[in-house]
Amino acid sequence: MAQFKELVFSGVQPTGNLHLGNYLGAIKRFVSMQDTHDCIYCVVDMHAITVWQDPKELARQIREVTAAFLAAGIDPKKHIVFNQSQVSGHAELAWVFNCVARMGWASRMTQFKEKAGKDRENASVGLFAYPMLMAADILLYRATHVPVGEDQKQHLELTRDVAQKFNNDFSASIAEHGFGEAFFPITEPLIHGPATRVMSLRDGAKKMSKSDPSDYSRINLTDDADTIAQKIRKAKTDPEPLPSEVEGLKARPEADNLVAIYAALMDVTPEAVLAEHGGSQFSGFKTALVDVAVSKLAPVAGEMRRLMADPAHIDAVLVDGADRARGIATETMNAVKDIVGFVRAR
Ligand code: TRP
Repeated sequence: MAQFKELVFSGVQPTGNLHLGNYLGAIKRFVSMQDTHDCIYCVVDMHAITVWQDPKELARQIREVTAAFLAAGIDPKKHIVFNQSQVSGHAELAWVFNCVARMGWASRMTQFKEKAGKDRENASVGLFAYPMLMAADILLYRATHVPVGEDQKQHLELTRDVAQKFNNDFSASIAEHGFGEAFFPITEPLIHGPATRVMSLRDGAKKMSKSDPSDYSRINLTDDADTIAQKIRKAKTDPEPLPSEVEGLKARPEADNLVAIYAALMDVTPEAVLAEHGGSQFSGFKTALVDVAVSKLAPVAGEMRRLMADPAHIDAVLVDGADRARGIATETMNAVKDIVGFVRAR
């Protein structure tokens, strides 16, 4: 696979408010990959409409995710930040992949089963086709590495299967058009470990989620310092002091979660956190956690608010990103059209 240049691609859906889980699990990882790789970060608005979105709210959320990328430290000049709908290659390649992927593959997707629920007849066709659009996002740029959460692992496997089947089904044409043995890379998922899975502040067994009815279950990326402090002080704990070893966190999901959050915010291991705070009561540990959370998150929230007050600037970043993404996408689509046998102007 040596012929493929290393490239990172990932996407975030503009649905619902961003919270600490999105930040530690995804955005912070995106930021750190910028030093070692060329990166493309995409606001996947076409994925968002697989379930109905209020148009005004969708537009606001696209700008908010973009603001979060920028506020967290993604550099849109060195890398590419754009929204999916503005590069038509995503939809075009998704169609080709709809014809490569098999009904059986898509039917096995657990995210589709979960999101469609019991009333599958009433789910949109787009929700079923979602994984093929995701494969198109990634392979339109022939990306080699994709940082995603554990819940996206199955979609990445489908992406690899689509790439493999396309390379096989069209192998003669791929070689004839001078692309050697394979046109698409077999993308490597970079799965976020459990250390970056952030749980609800109200229930350590549930993931932190935008859809939890209690706002106290999560820290939103736009929360101000007072709100962050209040939510951490109210976070569920148990009556024991913190253990000195990580083994002591095993049957204590809330303690485990707060230690993991502290560690992730500080970029240290849970072991290091317990070396310092083992034996402390939660009241003391929460005070330290409030300090860390406020010092790391309040500046991001402040910068997001500043950016959101100037939507014209955000829109200009997205337009510039889409123009540069389109340059790569057009090359890929021209090659795909030739490989498949579509006749086009030259
Ligand atoms: N499905 C992903 C999610 O819900 C979002 C996504 C869309 C994505 N296209 C992508 C992630 C391409 C990585 C690469 O989290």
